[in-house]
Amino acid sequence: MLKSSIFDPMLLRGHRLNNRLIVAPMTRRSATPEGVPTDEMAAYYHAFAKGGFSVIITEGTYTDTLFSQSDQNQPGLTDENQMEGWKKVVEQVHNEGSLIIAQLMHAGALSQYHESTIAPSSIKPIGKRSTEPGGLTGTFPIPKEITESDLQHIKTGYLNAAKLAIKAGFDGVEIHAANGYLFDQFLTGYTNLRTDRYGGSISNRLSFLAEVFNCVKGAVPSGFIVGIRMSESKVNDLSYRWPGGSQTAIETFNVVAKIKPDYLHIAAEGGNWARECLYPDGLSSTGLAKKLTGVPVIANGGLHDLNLAETLIESNQADFISIGKAALANPDWPFLVLHEKPVIPFFKELIKPSLTLSHTASELAKLKQYYE
Ligand SMILES: Cc1cc2nc3c(=O)[nH]c(=O)nc-3n(C[C@H](O)[C@H](O)[C@H](O)COP(=O)(O)O)c2cc1C
Repeated sequence: MLKSSIFDPMLLRGHRLNNRLIVAPMTRRSATPEGVPTDEMAAYYHAFAKGGFSVIITEGTYTDTLFSQSDQNQPGLTDENQMEGWKKVVEQVHNEGSLIIAQLMHAGALSQYHESTIAPSSIKPIGKRSTEPGGLTGTFPIPKEITESDLQHIKTGYLNAAKLAIKAGFDGVEIHAANGYLFDQFLTGYTNLRTDRYGGSISNRLSFLAEVFNCVKGAVPSGFIVGIRMSESKVNDLSYRWPGGSQTAIETFNVVAKIKPDYLHIAAEGGNWARECLYPDGLSSTGLAKKLTGVPVIANGGLHDLNLAETLIESNQADFISIGKAALANPDWPFLVLHEKPVIPFFKELIKPSLTLSHTASELAKLKQYYE
């Protein structure tokens, strides 16, 4: 059996985790058209828990029916039916002793589902919608500028979604403030030209995130985890970096320190921690996040690279690592690595534009036989 720091146990808000391995949130567009998680999704999430991941963060889940939804067939947490669907997913994961955290997502200007969108400022997003079958195509529309009443509606959506997450049995929620979606649109200078208390300084640009976090945190039991995910790169602007590099990171994390999430998940959407989280001066966003906020940090981005994952944990630049694409190829990645068995390399067909997850069972079984 492999001896590695990624298999050291650790506490997360009072929950004892067997290892440092977390499944990164991954949109699969496989719920019903009404946003209800299916039995197939329960089997999909179960495989990660059975495969040894100590925590699973779900795909981005929408929080209200007005503007938050990102994709067709995206699951939601806005009503009892969706909650009941999630309950089955949660049960399957808990049966294997893993935790499951719902990622709560508002797409803002980057919705591929809503014809009209809202955002901090009325600025046409760069890039194009993806070409998923059934989804909207072409460039993104110019969003409507978010008003005070929109802010209230968004906040209420997050609060209700968190309450439904508790009812479904989730161990926590992650507020998606990364990758160019709503809260990242507030943080990013070129998508936030507001002159009210939500625009201007970094502190102002993070103030709506702080309000939503406090609203959710104030309404959940103390053991219920409320994390935040942030990133520099965006789905529609992968090369974006915080202007000012590590200096901006220091200012940003000093503000996040006051928000005090239960964890901070620093994402490298492009799948390359070194390229997206390391600054020219040798400091890293995950290391700075850990040092300045004092909360547990999840690092992400190509961290199925064992040496790099161990280095981050052992050099205090992360407490946990989240794995995306390698977990799609190997839902039992922790088990395989621990037992020093071969893993399947990720190949892009695993992200089929199909609405089903059937490949996870049948195709993967075939592939495994091939590699074993
Ligand atoms: C199919 C797919 C869907 C994704 N959906 C989400 C999502 O819903 N929410 C999110 O925060 N990140 C999402 N991501 C980004 C991943 O969480 C992760 O940041 C990225 O894959 C890099 O990690 P990796 O190198 O381990 O794959 C998605 C990535 C993939 C491959």
